[in-house]
Amino acid sequence: MPAILGIESTCDETAAAVVVDGHDVRSNVVASQAELHAKYRGVVPEIASRAHIENLLPVLREGVAGAGLAPGQIDAIAVAYRPGLIGSLLIGVTAAKTLAWALGKPLIGVDHVHAHLYSVALESNASPPFPAVGLVCSGGHTALYRVNGWPDVAMIGGTIDDAVGEAYDKVAAILGLGYPGGPAIDRLAAAGDPRAVAFPRTLLGRDSLEFSFSGLKTAVLYHVRGVPRRGEDVKTAAHEPPAGQALNDVCASFQAACVDTLVEKVRRAARATGARSVIVGGGVSANRGLRDALAAFPLPVFLPPLRYCTDNAAMCAGLAHVHLQAGRLSGLDLDAVTFSELRRVS
Ligand code: KG4
Ligand code: ZN
Repeated sequence: MPAILGIESTCDETAAAVVVDGHDVRSNVVASQAELHAKYRGVVPEIASRAHIENLLPVLREGVAGAGLAPGQIDAIAVAYRPGLIGSLLIGVTAAKTLAWALGKPLIGVDHVHAHLYSVALESNASPPFPAVGLVCSGGHTALYRVNGWPDVAMIGGTIDDAVGEAYDKVAAILGLGYPGGPAIDRLAAAGDPRAVAFPRTLLGRDSLEFSFSGLKTAVLYHVRGVPRRGEDVKTAAHEPPAGQALNDVCASFQAACVDTLVEKVRRAARATGARSVIVGGGVSANRGLRDALAAFPLPVFLPPLRYCTDNAAMCAGLAHVHLQAGRLSGLDLDAVTFSELRRVS
């Protein structure tokens, strides 16, 4: 029954968690920096790194104590070492290496995006039938995977511009809804008409597994502020943002365009891979509209509990258990890596 301490600091959440046996979450501590970045309407890397330094030790202490363990009772240290912001990654990776060395415990580096997929296995022993299509949709990532089993994961498609969560955050900024924008848009969308505004579904080529959300974001901008005349900068032009029912309708119509696109790509990926189930993770997997749409999907769909959708360390500690079982340990020379795995074409 190995107890693994997970550390997550890839972006703007400082998190620590203890997970036993890959499923049993004994503690899950997340210090969000959302308030620090809100006035910039997005994550400022330098501010994120500094906040990680301040938050990490208290979060680690709470994570270990919350699990009712002394540091010596931890069996391994896991850390998300890729992908992410370099300054943010370095704080978590350095802390993990230091702890592993000081406690004399194995170190396990995990891929943050793969960990988002693994989050469906937390607090659950029901294994998805493999192969599965994996969709990670978050603020930093929107990608499709063929999941052959844990941790045999191959990327089969991804966004060519914005991540879907990034589009939510930028549309929320256009609508004056603050950061992060996903939860606010999701809430307002529930009271709006998804057919009120015909925003584009960018599906690219007929069998394409790529995503593009940049045009949708611009369509919302033009809908709200008008199509710019030659030489006019719509980003600074005076405008009256929608309010009341009109705001709800824009949110619902934007959300419908995102959800339709995500579900269609999952459908294509399932066809292309012969998948037996679907796994969805990442911040946008908390979205009510997406969850409702996937409820009608013809394959079994596995979604994480809401507390494990956004960035957390339990998913890292959980995935690390699989690596530990397979003897895939990292050395103390583990380095932070900013990019995700390269796409494997099969
Ligand atoms: O997984 P996450 O915490 O960070 C990354 O790995 O990027 O995802 C954060 C993203 C943000 O863009 C946020 O707006 C979005 O997830 N998000 C949502 C919802 N909750 C969070 N987007 C749509 N609907 C939600 N309910
Ligand atoms: Zn994430």
